[in-house]
Amino acid sequence: MKISIINGPNLNLVGVREPEIYGNMSMDSYLQSLVERYPDVEFILFQSNHEGSIIDEIQRVGFDVDGIAINAGAYTHYSIAIGDALKAVTAPAIEVHISDVQAREPYRHISMIKDSCRCVIAGYGLDSYRRAVDAIITGNYNAEQ
Ligand code: DQA
Repeated sequence: MKISIINGPNLNLVGVREPEIYGNMSMDSYLQSLVERYPDVEFILFQSNHEGSIIDEIQRVGFDVDGIAINAGAYTHYSIAIGDALKAVTAPAIEVHISDVQAREPYRHISMIKDSCRCVIAGYGLDSYRRAVDAIITGNYNAEQ
């Protein structure tokens, strides 16, 4: 099984950025532990601060992998283009957030990508990614993993 994890802007700074919201663990060390936890899964990890590069990656992997876990960061809230790219490919996608976006500022309640995703998993800290991976592996897209 192949799973793509796509991180958008500023997610490379998790561990340093606003630790009261995103925690102290670095994204790199978290993703390394996630990869080790699923030895039978081939992970394709990608991060970019640029909208077009995220779209290129969705198009590159999106006809090949078994699922995409995407945390588009702030692009979630205004990128119609990322939503369109997720709709264009065949792989099922899950919208992932570390924080509980629905409990934050009103502009974070809006998602331009959720209609292109099977479910939204948000607010579990970095464990949101593990929950998304489990959903892809089991095919159970009920957000309460
Ligand atoms: C985030 C939530 C977004 O609103 C924010 O812009 C981020 C991170 C999250 O994982 O909680 O960059 O996607």
